[in-house]
Amino acid sequence: SDHAAMGHQMPTPLAAAPVGGPLPPLPSGEHLPALPLLANQAQEAGRFVAALEAAPLQAALWGDGRQTAFWAYNASLPGPLIELWEGDQLEISFSNRLSQPSTIHWHGLPVPAEQDGNPHDPVPPGAQRQYRFTLPAGSAGTYWYHPHPHGHTAEQAFRGLAGALIVRSRNDPLRHLPEQHLLFSDLKLDADGQVAANNMADLHDGREGQYVLINGAWQPMIPLAQGERQRWRLWNATSSRILKLALPAHEVQLVGTDGGLLAAPQTIDSLLLSPGERAELVVTGRFRDGVPAGLISQPYRRGKMMHAEQQQDEVLAGVMQHGMRPTQALPATLRPIAPLGAPGYRRRIEFSENMADMSAMFLINGRRYDMNRIDGSGKVGRIEEWELVGNAHMDHPFHLHGTQFQVLARTVDGLWEDEPYLAWRDVVNVAAGQSVRIRFVQQLPGLRMFHCHILEHEDQGMMAQIDFLAE
Ligand code: C2O
Ligand code: CU
Ligand code: CU
Repeated sequence: SDHAAMGHQMPTPLAAAPVGGPLPPLPSGEHLPALPLLANQAQEAGRFVAALEAAPLQAALWGDGRQTAFWAYNASLPGPLIELWEGDQLEISFSNRLSQPSTIHWHGLPVPAEQDGNPHDPVPPGAQRQYRFTLPAGSAGTYWYHPHPHGHTAEQAFRGLAGALIVRSRNDPLRHLPEQHLLFSDLKLDADGQVAANNMADLHDGREGQYVLINGAWQPMIPLAQGERQRWRLWNATSSRILKLALPAHEVQLVGTDGGLLAAPQTIDSLLLSPGERAELVVTGRFRDGVPAGLISQPYRRGKMMHAEQQQDEVLAGVMQHGMRPTQALPATLRPIAPLGAPGYRRRIEFSENMADMSAMFLINGRRYDMNRIDGSGKVGRIEEWELVGNAHMDHPFHLHGTQFQVLARTVDGLWEDEPYLAWRDVVNVAAGQSVRIRFVQQLPGLRMFHCHILEHEDQGMMAQIDFLAE
């Protein structure tokens, strides 16, 4: 039958001993829920007008009388999907119905600094504000939005505030393929079935819960035909979980990263997707007897971690065979990516930890984030080259606001290796002991943050800011 492919690989929670011991496991095996779409209220083409409200929400996770308290955008877990076109003018009104200040940060989009929802522009409880910006040509890609208030980003995100955003291009070479959206979040429940607060281990290692959810569902089923090609967009919206994803049975090509399509598809065996990072895959159904058909996460060692890590493959989603279909063509080239030229400025950005100082454990260039300190200045339009140095005992995924960057090279066991292909990214994992070289240009002036995207580290100050000045 169609469902047989899942058969032998049904659910066990990711952690051996869930915090909520007496609670039954969450229901699993439902069809992958579609992300609800945020409706566009604009009457004319080229504009996108909508409202987002952050507010408390009660959800019945077990489908019975038990209620779990979340915070959600527009009463949806995760938040609604925002689908846009290059060139669109956006006008989003945001209402904060939480008891804390919040913002909406447009993660990865090249928006003006004052529209970026960064910690300098908090929206107080009960207040409202408009975010207005235009999507430039070439911005097609896979983005997301989440709160970014000073010191409260992790909590607001793990209580449910995060949503997907897609910018489409009118000449998309993959538009003929059916699309699946998979937004990964991490749910940590306490013994009462409520979203657990962060403990010391979470603050240190980064929070990991008992459940990795996809579009809010645990171990959902994704239908795929034998031979069918689908385009999968993936979002790692977890606080701190570095996902090493694989589909052992099927053919998988990486076709896009955070900032859109690659120049050409890359065949891959597994994909490391760190917190904040996105990817586009083309998955071709190749169901085979004896090979698990599902989407799995493989063990990955995030440096010298103190807590127990995932020891074996875990099933994140089932993939069920749904008939047979002819295999559609996959173009050999997707879009041109020009390499950024010689840099006009260089910086060294060092991640480090100081376990002796509880008030400043996670540092960038030896310092903890201070909203009132500007850590450097740059120029709009000038190519910068940064060496990201992981002088640390754990991995720290680096993220830069305001633009996309190209990775040039990374060290592997201390030796530099050139990046095998060009890609536009806004997150790159800097593994313990590793260095990564990137180049970028900021096209818009203003203060831009960069930080570790383990949200617990960011809130504790593993963040810095540079003011980019117009020429
Ligand atoms: Cu996704 Cu500064 O964040
Ligand atoms: Cu961001
Ligand atoms: Cu970190």
